[in-house]
Amino acid sequence: MSTIKDVAKKAGVSVATVSRVINDKGKISDNTKLKVNKAIMELSYKPNTIARSLSNRRSNIVSLIVPTVNNPFFPELTRAVEDEAQANGYNVLLCNTDDKREKLEQYLDIASTRYVDGIIIDSNNITKEDLEKTRKLKIPVILIDRIIKEKDYPFIAVKNREGARIATKHLLEVGCKRIGHIQGPENENTSIQRLWGYQDIVSDLPWFNRSWIGKGEFSIRSGYKIAKELFTRHQDIDGIFAANDLIAIGALKAAYEWGKRVPNDISIVGFDGIDMSEATVPSITTIRQPIYEIGKLSMKELIKAMENKGEMQSYTLDVELEIRESTMKANISD
Ligand code: RIB
Repeated sequence: MSTIKDVAKKAGVSVATVSRVINDKGKISDNTKLKVNKAIMELSYKPNTIARSLSNRRSNIVSLIVPTVNNPFFPELTRAVEDEAQANGYNVLLCNTDDKREKLEQYLDIASTRYVDGIIIDSNNITKEDLEKTRKLKIPVILIDRIIKEKDYPFIAVKNREGARIATKHLLEVGCKRIGHIQGPENENTSIQRLWGYQDIVSDLPWFNRSWIGKGEFSIRSGYKIAKELFTRHQDIDGIFAANDLIAIGALKAAYEWGKRVPNDISIVGFDGIDMSEATVPSITTIRQPIYEIGKLSMKELIKAMENKGEMQSYTLDVELEIRESTMKANISD
C-alpha cells in the first residue's frame, strides 16, 4: 500500500505539500496540484480519512440516528439521506438505537469525538442537554420525524395531527359508525399527535369513550394484539385508524382471523405509506408521509450548515390520504 511519502517522492514535492493538496489548504500552484493528483492516481494512494479528520476537522461523514431498522419506514428514509449525501460527497454512518437511550448516548459520544461533520437525529429519546452539547462542539444537528421542538433547533416533521384527522374523517365518510384507534408508543411525539387528531374527530360523537383507544407499539405484532382486544371489547367496531402501517397490517391479520371482512365489515387506515402497505391483500389505505423528501431535505439543510452556506430551516411537511382497498367499500358487493 502506498504512503504519503511515496506520493511526495513521485511528485517531486514535500510531504507537507501533498498534505496541503489533499486537505485543500494553503496556496498551491495548479501545476503542483496536478503533479500531486497524478502521483496519487498512479500509486492508487488512499489518504487516511481519520487522520484527515483530525487535522482538518472534516471527515465528510454524517451520522444518521434512527430508532430501528426493522421498520421499513426508516430504511426508506435512510435511502433518501444516503442518496443526497453521496450526491454531495458525504458518507452516512447509520446508527440504529433500538429506541434505547444508552445506544443513543453511545452514538452521540462517537459523534462528539468529532469524527462526523453533522448529525441527523430521529429519536424521541433526545434531550435538550444532548442538543446543547452538540452545539458546544459545533456539530450541526437537524431533528427529523420524532422531533422535540426546542427553540433554535431545526427540524423536519410532518402534519401528524392533521393526517390523523384526515384518516378518521375518511373512515366516517366511507360509512363507519364505530371507529377505534390503535396508538403508537405513548411517550412518542408522532403517536401523541396522531392520537389527538383522531380524538379531534370522534370525541364529540355520542358513542365515543377511551375504551375505543388501544395502547400499542409501532409493530405488526402490536397491531394484531391490540386489534383483537378492540374486537373483544367492541363487537360493533367497523373502522380502525392505526397509528402506522405496520399496526394496520397487524390489524388486517387480526380481522382475517376474526372472520371480519375488510373493508365490508371493518375498514382500516394506516399511516406512513411504506411500500409494504400496498402489497397486502387488501391493500391498505394510508396517510402517506413524504418519506423520501424528509430524508433528502434533512441532508440538504445539514449540508448548508456544515458548509457554512446559511442557516438551517425547519419544515412541517404535508401528508396525503392514499385511498386503497381497505376502505373501498363501494367497490365490493356483500
Ligand atoms: O412507522 C414508524 C413510525 O415512527 C412512523 O410513523 C414515523 O413517523 C415514526 O415516528
